[in-house]
Amino acid sequence: MPPLRLLALLAGLLVSARAGLAPLVDIVGGRKARRLEFPFLASIQNEGRHFCGGALIHTRFVLTAASCFRNLNPGVAMVVLGAYDLRRRERSRQTFSIGSISENRYDPQENLNDLLLLQLDREANLTSNVVLVPLPPQNAMVEAGTSCQVAGWGNRKNGGRLSRFPRVVNVTVTPENRCRPNNLCTGVLTRRGGICQGDGGTPLICNGLAHGVASFSPNPCGKGPDFFTRVALFRDWIDSVLNPPGQGLA
Ligand SMILES: *[C@@H]1O[C@H](CO)[C@@H](O)[C@H](O)[C@H]1NC(C)=O
Ligand SMILES: *[C@@H]1O[C@H](CO)[C@@H](O)[C@H](O)[C@H]1NC(C)=O
Repeated sequence: MPPLRLLALLAGLLVSARAGLAPLVDIVGGRKARRLEFPFLASIQNEGRHFCGGALIHTRFVLTAASCFRNLNPGVAMVVLGAYDLRRRERSRQTFSIGSISENRYDPQENLNDLLLLQLDREANLTSNVVLVPLPPQNAMVEAGTSCQVAGWGNRKNGGRLSRFPRVVNVTVTPENRCRPNNLCTGVLTRRGGICQGDGGTPLICNGLAHGVASFSPNPCGKGPDFFTRVALFRDWIDSVLNPPGQGLA
């Protein structure tokens, strides 16, 4: 179960073997997001190159996947907010280095607890392009069959290239027997669709809340199910990082 950003090589081989089975539609199987449609999306970059997504949950914090930093020191990464077209130096952008990171029992062997809080080096300014996404309450459940959305700059197909603009796909929460207790899993029922390389860390939005963080996909992109870290299991911990005790009522 390798994390999304490590799958590229293997995926390129698999896709050629499977290409005859189903058409590879355009994230996979989605459409181009509109500008300002997902203003809480963060592009996490290394030397100007996007490698993971994230979600702005506080003016000082971005939520992403711990697996994004398996092979990269967060000290060299940048967080870009307010981005849309990755090929342009947009005026809407705010760029940050990472002040500190917080993780909670991340287990890279089992891909469990795959989430990470990045503290930005300074406060983000909230604008029409830079908006906070709300989180679910502790232990909130998402029922199987719920329709959610996932958006990101990840590849449009296995082994392909990053998308220039964020793409969005509607996905459906799978039954628990196709998932694990600490994950939320999704699929696209009628065709190929889902997360791909470069979408790691991007949020899963259900009923307007960031219920998931893209963690991994055991199958080639678009085949599903996709595994997301279940954010509701970490809400109390997230709050304790955002508002450390003893700092008064923020
Ligand atoms: C936020 O706005 C202030 C005032 O315009 C500016 O000085 C600061 O650099 C901005 N911060 C970011 C992260 O862009
Ligand atoms: C996708 O989900 C959004 C938000 O839930 C909904 O408005 C839209 O109609 C859905 N699109 C499709 C093609 O199902």
